[in-house]
Amino acid sequence: MDREFTDFKEKLLDRTDIVSLISKYVKLERKGRNLWACCPFHSEDTPSFAVNESKRMFHCFGCKESGDAISFLMKIEHIEFMEAVRRLADGAGMEVPRFSGSREHTVDKGKRERLYNLMRDAARHYHDNLSSPRAKVFRDYLEERKIPSGMITRFGLGAALDFNEMLEFLESKGYTHEEMKAAGIADTRNDRHYDVFGKRLMYPIIDGMGNVVAFGGRTLEKDVHFAKYRNSTQTDIFDKSKIIYGANLLKKRASKGQIDYIIMTEGYMDVIALHKAGFDTAVASMGTALTARQAKQLISYSKLVYISYDGDTAGQKATLRGLDILKECGLTVKVVRLPDGLDPDDVIKRDGKEGYQKLLDEAIPLTAYKIEVLKAKYDLSDPDQKAKFAIEAAAVVRALPNPVEQEQYFEYVESVTGFSVSVLRRQAAYSEPDSPPPAVEKREEKVEYDDNLKFFLSSIFQGRDYVDFDKNLTGIMPDELSKKLYALCREHESGLTLFIVDELSDEERECVDKILEYTYLPGDGRERFVDVEKSLYRRLLNSELDYLKTLPEKDESVRVRMQQIMYEIAKYPQNRS
Ligand code: UTP
Ligand code: MN
Repeated sequence: MDREFTDFKEKLLDRTDIVSLISKYVKLERKGRNLWACCPFHSEDTPSFAVNESKRMFHCFGCKESGDAISFLMKIEHIEFMEAVRRLADGAGMEVPRFSGSREHTVDKGKRERLYNLMRDAARHYHDNLSSPRAKVFRDYLEERKIPSGMITRFGLGAALDFNEMLEFLESKGYTHEEMKAAGIADTRNDRHYDVFGKRLMYPIIDGMGNVVAFGGRTLEKDVHFAKYRNSTQTDIFDKSKIIYGANLLKKRASKGQIDYIIMTEGYMDVIALHKAGFDTAVASMGTALTARQAKQLISYSKLVYISYDGDTAGQKATLRGLDILKECGLTVKVVRLPDGLDPDDVIKRDGKEGYQKLLDEAIPLTAYKIEVLKAKYDLSDPDQKAKFAIEAAAVVRALPNPVEQEQYFEYVESVTGFSVSVLRRQAAYSEPDSPPPAVEKREEKVEYDDNLKFFLSSIFQGRDYVDFDKNLTGIMPDELSKKLYALCREHESGLTLFIVDELSDEERECVDKILEYTYLPGDGRERFVDVEKSLYRRLLNSELDYLKTLPEKDESVRVRMQQIMYEIAKYPQNRS
């Protein structure tokens, strides 16, 4: 970005009151140095979205979204950078100057602009091809698959008639072969250019702004030894991990009225079939696991997502992979259980709109689904397998943030396995090596921190360069405050401690002050830290070992874990601390 523009942007951010801007969308409350609200970019009950007036920044400690007034407006209004700048300039009574300075910037932008135009021209031409006499085989295919003309138009479907025709068309519009390649449409073999989508049915992939950024092309042949679909490669305007098929229609739909839920499918054809049946909030992840970026796009439209992946093992695996991301981003996830071997398109063909609606009504929450998948993996009449199921299920339940929900699922696992809720709860504490065991007993009275702990916490709080954040010692934090502090420190590693202090209540801050005193005791430093860390780590291992020893039945996995722990303890011998 050139100097001139940077100056303008700085002035614009200075004149923009970020607090009143953000207040238009969420209710901010002042607490300490920052203002707080529930984050507009993910769903939550307790505020972790902070606005720092003097830094002119926002930051969400939950979903990690952060930025300035411009990026806030871009995200919340789904608009591009320059559009956000224009709107803020309007509000600040500033004129957006024309920038001549940055050649690089404008060339880049010009190049992208041309790619967008090329893609739009190409999409239109593929679409027009469908009415060509040469496209009979395509029209027959669409008819056989019962895709009405309304859907062909809505999704802008098209035909790549052969391997050359598109390139000639683009040439006639003045595009170079370089540009066709950069757009991912043309490639070269034996010095000949050809359309990589030749003879395929074309699905344009359109972003939230309405730009055609990529294509998916389906072969019309029945049994193929090559890929059924061919998709655009990454280009300057296409990043697969950010795009959701159908997101453009979601945006249009949102402008007409509230979206109660989104249906997430795997495939192009599923989206079209669902829209045809009236489920007009269906989108697709295009056969891959979902990314956080995709999840965040969804949440601005609706907080409830029905996952409707193919009813086969591969689909189920993809389901489990994608779902945690959705949840982490704050979405509520329900899983639609499709009959084996069928995708949503097949269900609608076989059982109609009503058939699919019934499956939607019977969708189950993510956790229930995960437990169901686990249950199917084990033979519960075998005691060993039943125990394994209980251990794995306990880990799933443990990951739930909400104790009431945890209770419900523990009770369910109890009803299936006979292991009591309290055993499952204890099991859960250790089933995930990377998560803290629950506090043995939640004590309300003040916990006395011992010296090692105080020293340890104060060192990491200050982000000392010798601190090893990889080792997870959450398990030995004696109370909620120390857990919270420790989690925050690990999250930010260092440097953000001012933000951390602002996250605490007055009372908590007093406690922190007490902990911090310790930093200045003699003997501080790397050497002491390493000793203290070792001794705390040993404490963690011993407490887990003690717990495992109390288990009445020790299966293979428990025995292995005990071995591991004893081995670890031997690696960290007792020393002077
Ligand atoms: P499916 O094989 O389930 O295809 O792949 P589909 O959408 O049901 O298509 P039809 O009904 O056979 O026409 C699901 C999605 O995975 C991606 C595509 O996005 C597809 O829609 N995929 C699949 C590919 O990218 N390449 C492939 O070769 C296959
Ligand atoms: Mn299909």
